[in-house]
Formats: sequence, C-alpha cells, structure tokens
Amino acid sequence: MTESIQARYEAAHDEGRPLLGGHRGDPAHHPENTMRSFRSAIAAGCDLIECDVHLSSDGRLVVIHDHALERTTNGTGLVRDHSAAELRRLDAGEGEHIPLLQEVVELAIGKVGLVIEIKQVPIQYPGLEDKLVAMLRQLGAVSECAVVSFHHPSIRQLRQMEPKLQLGILEGARPIDPARMLREAGADVYSPHWGATDPQLVKDIHAAGGAVGVWTVDDDAAVAWCRLCRPDSIFTNRPVEIGAAFRS
Ligand code: G3P
Ligand code: CA
Repeated sequence: MTESIQARYEAAHDEGRPLLGGHRGDPAHHPENTMRSFRSAIAAGCDLIECDVHLSSDGRLVVIHDHALERTTNGTGLVRDHSAAELRRLDAGEGEHIPLLQEVVELAIGKVGLVIEIKQVPIQYPGLEDKLVAMLRQLGAVSECAVVSFHHPSIRQLRQMEPKLQLGILEGARPIDPARMLREAGADVYSPHWGATDPQLVKDIHAAGGAVGVWTVDDDAAVAWCRLCRPDSIFTNRPVEIGAAFRS
C-alpha cells in the first residue's frame, strides 16, 4: 500500500507511538546500508528505513555512510573518486554490494518511508540535490521519502526546489532555539541525537508545526529517555530489539 511519509507520521501520532526507523537498515544483524540490511529492517516491522547517500565520480547516487571506503567495504580511497561500476564491484559485507539509491527507493516504495541522509559535510557534492529531486520525481517517490542532512543549506535549497518533499535537519548539539533553525531551513522534521533532546524541545518543535525524529536509540537508557521526551520517530541500529521494547 502506498502511504506518504507524512501520513505515516500522522497515523503513529494518533496511535500514540513513535515511528520505528531502521538506521542504515538493520545493521545489528546485517552489513549497514546494504539491500540485505534494508530488507531485514522492513521484515522487522520498521515504518521507516534510513540510508546515507554520496555521489560517485560519474555522478550516480550511491548508498554508503562514510566518505571513505575502508570501514565498510574491501575498497580503499574516497567514494567520490570511484565510478558507480567500480563501487558496485566492492564487497560491502556478506557478499553484498554498495546499493544505488534508486534500488533502495524501489525497495521502499509502497512498503516503508525512506529517509535519505545526504552527506554534504565535510566533502560537498555540487549538484547532488538536483539529481536527487529528479530521481524521486521520476520514480514517483517524492511523497514517500524524506531527505535529511547536517548540511542545513542543502535542506533549504531542497525546500525551494520541491515543496512536497519532507525535509529534516540533523543536529548533534542542543541549540538555544531549535524551532528557529527548523524555520530557517524550511524543514519539517528536527532530528537530534536522542541525548540532545528534552521534553521542552519536543514541545517547541510541535508548537512550530514540526516533528522530532531522534537517533540513535540503541539501549535501555535511550529508550527510557525517549519515553519521557516523546519524539515522533526514533531511529535505531537494533530495530528488532528496540521495536520490541517500544511495543512492550
Ligand atoms: O539519522 C541521523 C543519523 O544517521 C546521523 O548520523 O553519522 O549515523 O549518519 P550518522
Ligand atoms: Ca545517517
């Protein structure tokens, strides 16, 4: 069933629960940011899956977390210095490849909301935003996806390009006025680390018409803090276990 990501947020709100997001898929059980990891997160009942996106040297949108290849693949060097074909030949764990973003979008459509983090810091990819919007439009996936980033100017740019796309700003610290940051970026979702969240922040973002999506909720302390703060979505590296904790 096709459901917009906004409708998913509204339904979960009505049910009084946060949306469950598989951060990089289900990396507790499969290599992060691989198709196997995303399929596992969907099977675990996630409402959302999150992935990280870079551009290859030939301008393809590829799914991997780091700017460098060493930690998660058998390759070396920077993602941006390799073509998509070269990246595809690498082993990303358990015989999996680095996915193209298009594959992940096609997997997610009609099943889960897809949260796409664009890695525009510290290395920037000029033109990434244009390619992303063009792809989402071409696949008819704009309403089912969100784009988030630590690079807030990119989010503001995306807002000007595509008013219907859900957008989120990532933040590691606890700013003085998070609602103002949300407004300045034209974003819909304020997305902090769970430890940089508090009940007043959630209240302020809701009063500004936004939603709060926290990461990375992986242990009992984080679950307890989220029960107190009541964010709208939680992203976890352990969707099976943390999903069960929120259901109990
Ligand atoms: O969803 C937000 C979170 O993914 C940001 O941090 O480094 O895990 O991509 P990182
Ligand atoms: Ca991420």
